[in-house]
Amino acid sequence: MKIFLDTANLEEIKKGVEWGIVDGVTTNPTLISKEGAEFKQRVKEICDLVKGPVSAEVVSLDYEGMVREARELAQISEYVVIKIPMTPDGIKAVKTLSAEGIKTNVTLVFSPAQAILAAKAGATYVSPFIGRMDDLSNDGMRMLAEIVEIYNNYGFETEIIAASIRHPMHVVEAALMGVDIVTIPFAVLERLFKHPMTDLGIERFMEDWKKYLENLKK
Ligand code: G3P
Repeated sequence: MKIFLDTANLEEIKKGVEWGIVDGVTTNPTLISKEGAEFKQRVKEICDLVKGPVSAEVVSLDYEGMVREARELAQISEYVVIKIPMTPDGIKAVKTLSAEGIKTNVTLVFSPAQAILAAKAGATYVSPFIGRMDDLSNDGMRMLAEIVEIYNNYGFETEIIAASIRHPMHVVEAALMGVDIVTIPFAVLERLFKHPMTDLGIERFMEDWKKYLENLKK
């Protein structure tokens, strides 16, 4: 399973990369706007740091605009993946871009039916939004499981990115399903490390080691 960071914050990305467990990054207009950085410059900086797939989203909603933006963004780095919203124009743009060898990530996916269309268009990645489904009292994990099953049925090559991840159990459940990738906020990545028994265990080992050293002096 690959782990992508769902952020445009350079400090967070640096930390994750230093830990050696980050394979890529996903951004969206909201995450970019939080940083207040120049869009293309920030995408380049992220690519240079992570040296893996970095999703950058188009903001045009029409086919021509999406394709134009995608071609420009793809010039930034070999690592750029074009994030395209799940609409008829978006799917048409994905088909065009995949024929040109430009990698795409179909975003804002909320149903297995939409995920089928993304795969049919030749998307490199599809991003079902788990947390936002849960927010509406729908079962995000069930949607994810159905997409995994459908993709396995047909051997679709589009990789599934479990997105809109809110807590560690989303990550674990996605991994149990064999999802290709989870994209997670930095705060959730930090929480993956945590277990109170680990903290307690370290505390006890340190106390006992201190006692051992004191006994040696006697
Ligand atoms: O990047 C797309 C997705 O992961 C957004 O998540 O938390 O805004 O629903 P969220």
